[in-house]
Amino acid sequence: MNTFLVADPSDMAQQNRNLFSLSLLSLATMTLATSLSPKCSVRGPVVATTPLVTFLERVQETALGTFGEEDFDPKLYVDLSLKFNLSKTEKAFDELPRSGENGTVSVKDLKVFIATFFDDAGDDLVYYDPVDFVPEPEGFLPKVKNPEVRSWALEVHALWKNLSRKVSDGVLEHSELHTLLPLPEAVVVPGSRFREVYYWDSYWVIRGLLASKMYETAKAIVTNLIFLVDTYGYVLNGARAYYTNRSQPPLLSAMVYEIYKRTCDVELVRKALPALLKEHAFWNSEIHKVTIQDAQGFNHNLSRYYAIWNKPRPESSTIDKESASKFFGNSEKQQFYRDVASAAESGWDFSTRWMRNTSEFTTLSTTSILPVDLNVYILKMELDIAFLAKVLGNKSTMESFMEVAEARKNAINSVFWDAEKGQWLDYRLTNGTIC
Ligand SMILES: *[C@@H]1O[C@H](CO)[C@@H](O)[C@H](O)[C@H]1NC(C)=O
Ligand SMILES: *[C@@H]1O[C@H](CO)[C@@H](O)[C@H](O)[C@H]1NC(C)=O
Ligand SMILES: *[C@@H]1O[C@H](CO)[C@@H](O)[C@H](O)[C@H]1NC(C)=O
Ligand SMILES: *[C@@H]1O[C@H](CO)[C@@H](O)[C@H](O)[C@H]1NC(C)=O
Ligand SMILES: *[C@@H]1O[C@H](CO)[C@@H](O)[C@H](O)[C@H]1NC(C)=O
Ligand SMILES: *[C@@H]1O[C@H](CO)[C@@H](O)[C@H](O)[C@H]1NC(C)=O
Ligand SMILES: *[C@@H]1O[C@H](CO)[C@@H](O)[C@H](O)[C@H]1NC(C)=O
Ligand SMILES: *[C@@H]1O[C@H](CO)[C@@H](O)[C@H](O)[C@H]1NC(C)=O
Repeated sequence: MNTFLVADPSDMAQQNRNLFSLSLLSLATMTLATSLSPKCSVRGPVVATTPLVTFLERVQETALGTFGEEDFDPKLYVDLSLKFNLSKTEKAFDELPRSGENGTVSVKDLKVFIATFFDDAGDDLVYYDPVDFVPEPEGFLPKVKNPEVRSWALEVHALWKNLSRKVSDGVLEHSELHTLLPLPEAVVVPGSRFREVYYWDSYWVIRGLLASKMYETAKAIVTNLIFLVDTYGYVLNGARAYYTNRSQPPLLSAMVYEIYKRTCDVELVRKALPALLKEHAFWNSEIHKVTIQDAQGFNHNLSRYYAIWNKPRPESSTIDKESASKFFGNSEKQQFYRDVASAAESGWDFSTRWMRNTSEFTTLSTTSILPVDLNVYILKMELDIAFLAKVLGNKSTMESFMEVAEARKNAINSVFWDAEKGQWLDYRLTNGTIC
């Protein structure tokens, strides 16, 4: 059995303190309390990725052969943007001289090709001065008195300037040359090789921005995420063409709730609520929803991570292909790729939590686990929606989401709670009933 820590419960909103005070989760196959009867048969639709991403994956694979594994970052290549159109670039790439049985391109030729045909990976976003940044905000961390700690906190605060970006004009004018997805407002990026907006990182970014009194920047982040829901039907893992087929832990409602608590901005709530309802439907859709019947014959609806994807993740394509090389069958490979992408969707990435055999990465089986934390996030989403609907005076939505939340709380306690251990445990669908 694996035991591991989840995020500090103090991050969770006060309103649900009791429910969220779990500090330990463990993974086990639960067969005692509930008899399993999942009802789900739909496999997610898989739509081909964009031609640009497909091409950049070829460049990535060639680069691995040319430059070797040392310090190789596959993501760098799918972040490159084109200087010329795709057909011209692809033609030049296909004409590169190749040698040896694997058709390796020489280091010199590939370097010249990349310098000639691509802009730098970081060029899609340009530095931006956040409108609401001041070096020392009024009322900043009032409880922090120690001068050394205060000056360190102000240094951290100053990093917002460093991490703020806006989408370059090049991306806006020629989005077909970039894997970066244009967003309407300024952004805050995690930094380093994470050059773009990420979904659940944005939650902690917003908590920090609120401490820094940067309410406009915080709202801009929410506006961007709402834009993604409007465009794709859910918040993408990140704002890149290769992240369009999976989401991340759903914390948009928590962001809106936190900002509303500080600003009482009803307009923001009005803008956000329809997107939150759409996102709720996404996490309770056929592919994410699993119905479990308990020993008393009661049905419970719970959610799981399930990427709409069954190929190598483009940003780690060379790595995923290598991992999947242990499988011979195509459908086994596809299932493995889906489980890898779903582990990325979980935000945990490659924890032993998702593996049937903790020493064997290829036993990753994210989609056959109903995770405690995901369902708690969705419960919080439901309570947040009820709260925000109340702010707008929408009684019917408030009431229906109170009911939905009650049902999920009941499901969490019926399916996940292990009285003997005093813990909520992930629920593993047995391999005979994976869907
Ligand atoms: C999968 O991603 C592609 C772009 O890479 C997008 O066009 C498509 O809509 C996505 N599929 C689904 C089902 O969302
Ligand atoms: C790409 O660019 C080349 C050279 O500039 C041009 O001849 C060709 O028509 C362009 N192709 C497309 C699909 O735009
Ligand atoms: C070609 O690729 C195969 C499989 O990746 C590898 O085993 C082999 O060593 C490579 N050959 C050369 C000459 O690099
Ligand atoms: C951001 O921080 C990095 C590392 O400290 C530094 O090299 C860079 O110049 C900074 N950029 C800006 C715009 O502040
Ligand atoms: C589970 O979902 C189904 C279909 O959406 C719904 O009819 C049913 O009432 C839900 N069950 C519970 C216990 O909420
Ligand atoms: C788990 O995986 C390891 C490494 O591949 C293997 O040696 C071991 O036999 C596996 N255990 C079981 C129970 O399959
Ligand atoms: C409450 O919200 C629901 C769902 O968005 C909407 O259909 C309904 O019109 C709203 N009712 C009122 C009174 O605003
Ligand atoms: C379940 O797993 C066992 C052991 O790995 C395997 O023999 C069996 O075929 C699997 N059943 C299904 C339906 O996949």
